[in-house]
Amino acid sequence: MERHRRVTAEPSPNDMLPSPRNLQTGPGAGLAPAAGLVPEISGCWSPRLAAALERFFVMMPGRRMSAVDSARVPLHIDCAALGGAVPQLGADENYRIEISAVGVRLSAAEEWGVLHGLTTLFHLLVRGGVVPAMRIDDGPRFSWRGLMIDVARHFMPVSALTRTVDAMALFKLNVLHLHLTDDQGFRFPSWSFPRLAQDPCYTREELEMLVAYAGQRGIRVLPELDVPGHTCSWLQAYPGWGSADPQPTRRFGVHRECLDPSNPEILPAIETLLGELAEVFPDEFVHFGGDEVHPEWWTASERVRAYMDDHGLADVDELHAEFNRRVTAMALDLGKRVIGWDEVLHPRLPPSVVVQSWRGATARNRALDTGHDCVVSANYYLDLCFPADVHYRFDPEAPESELVHLEDTLGQDPRLAHVAAGMAWTRQWRDVTVAQKSAEPETARGSVIGAEACLWSELVDAETLDVRLWTRLPALAERFWSPSARRNEDDLYRRLNVSLEALKVGADMDLFAISRRLLRRAGLQVAWDPLAAVLEPVKWYGRLLGEEAMAARIAGREMPQSRPYDADTPLNRVVDGLFPESLAARQIARLCERTAAADPTAAARLRAQAETWRGLPGNGAGPAELDELARRLKLLGTLVIDVLDGRVAPESAVPAVLAAGQPHGEYLLAVADPVSRWLASRQGPAGARGDV
Ligand code: ACM
Repeated sequence: MERHRRVTAEPSPNDMLPSPRNLQTGPGAGLAPAAGLVPEISGCWSPRLAAALERFFVMMPGRRMSAVDSARVPLHIDCAALGGAVPQLGADENYRIEISAVGVRLSAAEEWGVLHGLTTLFHLLVRGGVVPAMRIDDGPRFSWRGLMIDVARHFMPVSALTRTVDAMALFKLNVLHLHLTDDQGFRFPSWSFPRLAQDPCYTREELEMLVAYAGQRGIRVLPELDVPGHTCSWLQAYPGWGSADPQPTRRFGVHRECLDPSNPEILPAIETLLGELAEVFPDEFVHFGGDEVHPEWWTASERVRAYMDDHGLADVDELHAEFNRRVTAMALDLGKRVIGWDEVLHPRLPPSVVVQSWRGATARNRALDTGHDCVVSANYYLDLCFPADVHYRFDPEAPESELVHLEDTLGQDPRLAHVAAGMAWTRQWRDVTVAQKSAEPETARGSVIGAEACLWSELVDAETLDVRLWTRLPALAERFWSPSARRNEDDLYRRLNVSLEALKVGADMDLFAISRRLLRRAGLQVAWDPLAAVLEPVKWYGRLLGEEAMAARIAGREMPQSRPYDADTPLNRVVDGLFPESLAARQIARLCERTAAADPTAAARLRAQAETWRGLPGNGAGPAELDELARRLKLLGTLVIDVLDGRVAPESAVPAVLAAGQPHGEYLLAVADPVSRWLASRQGPAGARGDV
């Protein structure tokens, strides 16, 4: 029987996400729960460190002053060198912590390490109890540990971004990538082209404040100007910048509109915009997008075709590559390096350009093999509402064969089976080829310099941002920071739960309370809370595409443009307030496994859970779209109890339970699959049945 691992009351060094590179406990006694920490500084000191120390004590007021004088111990901080005005790629983020009964010593080569060390100390102390004597030697696996937020489809006010930065710091993420422009919105307040900015839009002061706020916490802010596709919003302001008549758009999906590289105004305008971005964002990098450029406008335009002839550009790929080459040169002139989505790969792409891989398991090696450094985002899209462990399995540096295998088997995961056919559609991305540069056959292979989780915001707004991000992102933060060794999935979820507690204190973010508020706003009454706790949104692009477009995509047909959502659809339904992955369902899955393994305590708890489900109101405790799901969960409750009591044979319950697990509208009942697996384990001769 698998032993149930409880979340221990005592803080354990193994609770942390991300886990440190090297942690050794002992010898001797640890830090007493009441020990007050008295800062002692040696080496360098700065306002940034003073502010970080102040935040640490605000999070842990009980440590600032001990109630018992004799319990005071030093918190010795030794910082060998200050960092620059803002963090840079490759900065030294290593630190060491030594903890004993007589105090804490935190040392680091640079300020950034001290910031991380204070965060680690927070995680160790926040749960109370004795902190064992230990020594931690820690530092990141990757220097680029990012989070991309699409602030174009749904605007995220600066207050949403600063609280995101607080949470990022807690999990040692260090790049906030802002996707500032897209078809539905342009959120950068250009002063040379003021018509571009669409309401709502950031002010320059807000963005400067955000950069400073993030820099104080060791986080870079990377701006993205997505060109030449995804630019409908630009063309509303400057229709002449395209090669055909732009249409106003609120719909999602790839648009035909794109900038016209043959227009002599375009590159100077981009140069001006890059210059403005450089004034606001001091980061060494600028992101120039480059994804999903629809070829139709270019191939249909006589002017563009003439331009291609004049410049010896054989096709639209060459035209895009030439455009990228020129934008890159302009950025370099401004002292910036460039990063773009993996569609920018082309033999003409300057080698200095970093490629952000997103189109599946093979995009990374296409970049590396052609000499480009890579930031990996494939399989790290949080808007797909995948479970945390699914993202966690994909290591940014895993051999390609492993990534391909993981991707190929995603559809066998029962939690994702309902979108297996849709996900299989993405395998066509494996057929993308990039010619080798003929002039430089022995180009040095690129490196994986980091990874970024991405949150595209078609179905996320500022209200729903936190629950969409943080129930899974701490797991990815570990993937990006910690050594590659796998940790088991139960252990991951145990630590994820601990992390959500830390998030409450460290970033004032109580995801359970936020979700509850959103559910109430959507009309869900308390009586249906047990239902909402085990519901999840359908996965992948199920919600965004809707049934019709999904069927067309699976069949390889042109997708209809009509979709369930556009940029004006309110995101205020129950589905918007749910955790993308039900942590309650995960715990019930463990109960089912332990019940199957003849654990009587688990069986009793499963029964109690099933009683709750059976007793739910069948309808009327929330929106009518949930009536069917309530009916299914009540049925599940009844079946579980009947099977436990021996009134119903497990095998005869299986079909109804499997049917309950089918998507209903945009919802999934996340407990149907674990219950069906428990029932399946009970089939066979009575003597072979494990459970009680
Ligand atoms: C992307 O997801 N279009 C980069």
